[in-house]
Amino acid sequence: MPMRSQYCGSLNAAHIDQEVTLSGWVDRRRDHGGVIFIDLRDREGIVQVVFDPDAKENFALADKVRGEYVLQVTGKVRARAAAAVNPNMASGEIEVYGTGLKILNEAETIPFPLDAFSNVGEETRLKYRFLDLRRLEMQKSLRFRSKVTSAIRNYLDRNNFLDIETPILTRATPEGARDYLVPSRTHENKFFALPQSPQLFKQLLMVAGFDRYYQIAKCFRDEDLRADRQPEFTQIDIETSFMTQDQIMSVTEGMIREVFKDLKGVEFDELQRMPFSEAIAKYGSDKPDMRIPLELVDVKDLVAEVDFKVFAGPANDPKSRVTALKVPGGNEKLTRKQIDDYTKFVSIYGAKGLAYIKVNDKNDLEEGLQSPIVKNLPVPVRAAILERVGAENGDLIFFGADKHKIVTEALGALRCKLGADLNLYTKEWAMLWVVDFPMFEELDDGSLTAIHHPFTAPSCSPEELAANPATALSQAYDLVLNGTELGGGSVRIHTKEMQQTVFNILGISEEEQREKFGFLLDALKYGAPPHGGLAFGLDRLIMLMIGASSIRDVIAFPKTQSAACVMTDAPGFVDDLQLRELHIRLRKKEKAEAAPAEGAEYGM
Ligand code: AMO
Ligand code: AMP
Repeated sequence: MPMRSQYCGSLNAAHIDQEVTLSGWVDRRRDHGGVIFIDLRDREGIVQVVFDPDAKENFALADKVRGEYVLQVTGKVRARAAAAVNPNMASGEIEVYGTGLKILNEAETIPFPLDAFSNVGEETRLKYRFLDLRRLEMQKSLRFRSKVTSAIRNYLDRNNFLDIETPILTRATPEGARDYLVPSRTHENKFFALPQSPQLFKQLLMVAGFDRYYQIAKCFRDEDLRADRQPEFTQIDIETSFMTQDQIMSVTEGMIREVFKDLKGVEFDELQRMPFSEAIAKYGSDKPDMRIPLELVDVKDLVAEVDFKVFAGPANDPKSRVTALKVPGGNEKLTRKQIDDYTKFVSIYGAKGLAYIKVNDKNDLEEGLQSPIVKNLPVPVRAAILERVGAENGDLIFFGADKHKIVTEALGALRCKLGADLNLYTKEWAMLWVVDFPMFEELDDGSLTAIHHPFTAPSCSPEELAANPATALSQAYDLVLNGTELGGGSVRIHTKEMQQTVFNILGISEEEQREKFGFLLDALKYGAPPHGGLAFGLDRLIMLMIGASSIRDVIAFPKTQSAACVMTDAPGFVDDLQLRELHIRLRKKEKAEAAPAEGAEYGM
């Protein structure tokens, strides 16, 4: 006899009068004057099982049952009395009249009641993740994740992509984060790096002729964590040969469209393709949240001549920016306290202040503007600013004046915060492509770094690139959804000459090029096809689709903010023997702190 005939959560009125066998956990047990109710839970949901004293043996057993016991129940599905129907439960119209009961396993009282999970810290939830995952919400989110990966595989299979695995123990693949290193036992003093992405391998697969590759790939990046970042995460990694940038964008966009349509019933209009420069100028971000109808408006030219140093200084510095952000109706909506809080908020990004003007009466430029800075601005400048931003009575205008990067980041973030705080969203979903990224970004020391990665093709020839690297554009593209970068990719460099030009611009010596990327340069000289691709963040995609506030809610066993696993207590200490085999000696101070109290923790 099978241990179950149906899932608890799948039962409904259509099953009335059927004999069923269920297996699951006790969500709740209630004793109602001689009748015992057990809410039995499995991955699909919960059903109410009733035991009455007529069946003596079962009743006595049911009386012993406690929360989270594992049971096998046989019984008959019957309609609930009208008054007992629970409209909040999928199986709320029915219950199972228990005729057989087996306790498959007992459970001690669990460290936190599943329905009171929000009362315990996330650390406790992660420590007992195997319990936390029993919650139906978590079951639902991981089930949804599985549906998404299956839809993705289906789409890519239909479009002739081959699923090919690439190594985890490898060399550094630069994606801008620190590497996780693995010491080699067999090669003294040498280390593997875990891949930050399969980037170079997928390019080599194109050189090898596989033409269309995909992989649902684990990537590892040792970087500061945020709500949408994990040190170990999953990419839907894609690479193609002989396809133009437009074709690559269209086939990958098609995948995201299909997933949203099939699993969320959401269809997108034609996607906007916004140049990077416009995204930065108008939205202060390379991943603009287009649900929010606010725009940054530069006013540098209007304030260059004023006496007010806070504005005039940056207005006369080519590397600085003076910009305005108008909040329609903000005069009423924002209190003094909120404005102070926003001033603190922008200081996170290095902004030294947050000037503002409240427009009480736009026709009275002497008395009708309320602002700590307006006295510093001549009336014609006030008029020009109001006109430029299209101010109406009741609007509030914020200003940022500083280095370009500071103003852009601060007001870009403020725009998003205002959108959330004032609920300015005009739609549920806003997806777009950001294109025409620059090839390089200038660091504070004047050196250049690749904006995407150093394998991205420029939109110009190697000669033009070498002549004007700082202004050259790349053939890179990002897909952005609701202000989150869902994925990014590019057409790649497929000639050795171009690749070396880029390495040279990045200040990578020929020796280092050989040492680190010799295999790539070799591959490029033996008939590399034109190729390009993209990678989506799977965790981020799921997170957005189900509206989770943390990436950890869509990952079965995530790491904490400090990049640790509190359940397995990883990372952990290792014993001296193991270290010796790896040719590693810990530095003294660290060793004293690190020495485990007794023996090894790895000796399993
Ligand atoms: P990129 O670095 O932009 O590109 O990464 C692609 C996508 O991966 C997701 N992502 C992350 N998700 C969770 N936690 C993280 N720490 C994290 N870092 C990145 C994002 C991002 O858009 N090899 C290139 C792709 C290519 O050129 O084909 C790459 O890795 O959603
Ligand atoms: P201060 O002259 O420093 O007292 O500043 C006058 C006003 O300008 C205050 O409202 C500040 O918040 C604002 N302010 C100061 N520095 C900046 C800046 N870099 N960008 C925008 N506003 C600023």
